[in-house]
Amino acid sequence: MVQDLKRLLDVARADLPSWLSVAVSDPRDPQSPLFPVEEAAIARAIVARRKEFSAGRVAARSALSAFDLVDIAVPMAEDRTPVWPAGIIGSITHTDTACVAVVARNRDARSVGIDLEPLTPLPPETVTQVCSLSELQCLPDAPLIAARRIFCAKEAAYKAQYALSNTLFDFKMLTYGHNSRGAPHLRFDKPVPPFIRGDRLALRQWTGFGLILSLVTLPVLHDAL
Ligand SMILES: CC(C)(COP(=O)(O)OP(=O)(O)OC[C@H]1O[C@@H](n2cnc3c(N)ncnc32)[C@H](O)[C@@H]1OP(=O)(O)O)[C@@H](O)C(=O)NCCC(=O)NCCS
Repeated sequence: MVQDLKRLLDVARADLPSWLSVAVSDPRDPQSPLFPVEEAAIARAIVARRKEFSAGRVAARSALSAFDLVDIAVPMAEDRTPVWPAGIIGSITHTDTACVAVVARNRDARSVGIDLEPLTPLPPETVTQVCSLSELQCLPDAPLIAARRIFCAKEAAYKAQYALSNTLFDFKMLTYGHNSRGAPHLRFDKPVPPFIRGDRLALRQWTGFGLILSLVTLPVLHDAL
């Protein structure tokens, strides 16, 4: 539910990067008009897909308006990624009842990935595809809730890394863990250029109000002086 998502974002607010614009929408709201290029992307889609896609574009436009980018189309590329305006990075996620879009200027981050999931147990038969026992033990939750949190974290990390690697991979490519200060990350277990084995993607994750929200941002690389 969008109200629950807004409550969770209120909790998250203090830990969200100041340069990140966040907007939400409700896939159950009457659909807003799409740009022709967006409409073409879902011309043959079923109603549920139209609703989530449309909600994503509503949230994306709302998030973009923070940078004075108004009435901007966000086409879908052939690989299904959103095509952001020049100089902008972003990410979209939806459930049946809530949608979030985040955008930022590319001078503030190289890439961003967001994922929203229900705070419910992951189906037991899925767990071994998503994570190992040692990953589950990193979290204090019951195992199937921990597995859902790791699933959500890996989906956000996958989206963030994809902008750089253009590579599709399965859940075993990333390992969930913590650094010595307890900050969570996803670690590459094999090289996926430009990422090398051992590279860590820092994770922010919030749970509550029946939801899990994961955010992965990749920092801008600065040339050595
Ligand atoms: C992309 C993917 C992660 C989407 O996750 P999901 O939980 O099904 O759906 P979400 O609502 O969270 O996200 C969907 C949005 O992600 C975005 N998206 C799609 N493909 C993407 C990609 N390769 N990279 C970044 N974002 C992508 C789109 O904006 C999409 O919404 P839209 O089509 O309405 O614009 C998933 O469908 C997928 O392709 N997975 C690949 C395999 C995988 O999951 N590997 C394990 C990860 S470690």
